[in-house]
Amino acid sequence: MSCNAPIGVFDSGIGGLTVVREIMRQIPGEPIIYFGDTARVPYGSKSQKTIITYSRQIIKFLQTKNVKAIVIACNTASALALEVVAKEVSIPVIGVVKPGAKVASEATKNGNIGVIGTEGTINSGIYNTYIKELNPDVRVYGKACPLFVPLVEEGWLTDPLTVEVAKRYISSLLGLNIDTLVLGCTHYPLIRNIIGSIVGNDVTLVNPAYETAIELKQVLLQAGIENNGAACEHKFYVSDGADKFKRFANTILPCDVVETEDVNIESFADALTTYL
Ligand code: DGL
Repeated sequence: MSCNAPIGVFDSGIGGLTVVREIMRQIPGEPIIYFGDTARVPYGSKSQKTIITYSRQIIKFLQTKNVKAIVIACNTASALALEVVAKEVSIPVIGVVKPGAKVASEATKNGNIGVIGTEGTINSGIYNTYIKELNPDVRVYGKACPLFVPLVEEGWLTDPLTVEVAKRYISSLLGLNIDTLVLGCTHYPLIRNIIGSIVGNDVTLVNPAYETAIELKQVLLQAGIENNGAACEHKFYVSDGADKFKRFANTILPCDVVETEDVNIESFADALTTYL
């Protein structure tokens, strides 16, 4: 595996760009191949079987681009598919949940942690499990916020309707004396200001993207596959709506997204074992 190969990053849509943004900040020399599954978003309401199938297809696509490592920039797929698919390929695969759990367990002072995420992530209980592995004395309160992803995909990042929806979801966490809130879906940092204004300044918001980029850096170092100074070109692919995606990506990334290509992701078989 060439150390100048790109890193594959994927999500159900635009949310994973919040992770890409952190990777670009912290490891600026690493080329990225991003895939957003915009035709099949949201992932949060789908079954584990479906999320594993989608993840396998996307990983198969990313492997055609010779990626040297994969970041599952989606909490739902990290919760429901990472463990299965990571065993099926020979390159490192990391997710966003473990890094987020680590930051949350370190950030809390009073031991009350809230986690907001998709139904898939919250119902899996994965944040609860990982946070308690690190600190068994804390209490973890999960709240699924299924309408956030469509609102963000629609670009309603400051819309009064998004504020209303956020109030409805988050109000149930407000009486629990949480001092830390994990943004347990990669779409949510895009409405961080709304969420922050509802929970107030005393609650620390945890965006797992930052710690994920640090973990990626360590994984590349340990495997001896950091980019050694070769040209760094990023490429973006989606399963639908390439132009809309490109416009949005250009509003949040620190680089110019010149082109985004549509990919027929269902043409990639969902078997990864051939790559073993
Ligand atoms: N952004 C993803 C996550 O972190 C997926 C959200 C969705 O598609 O429902 O969970």
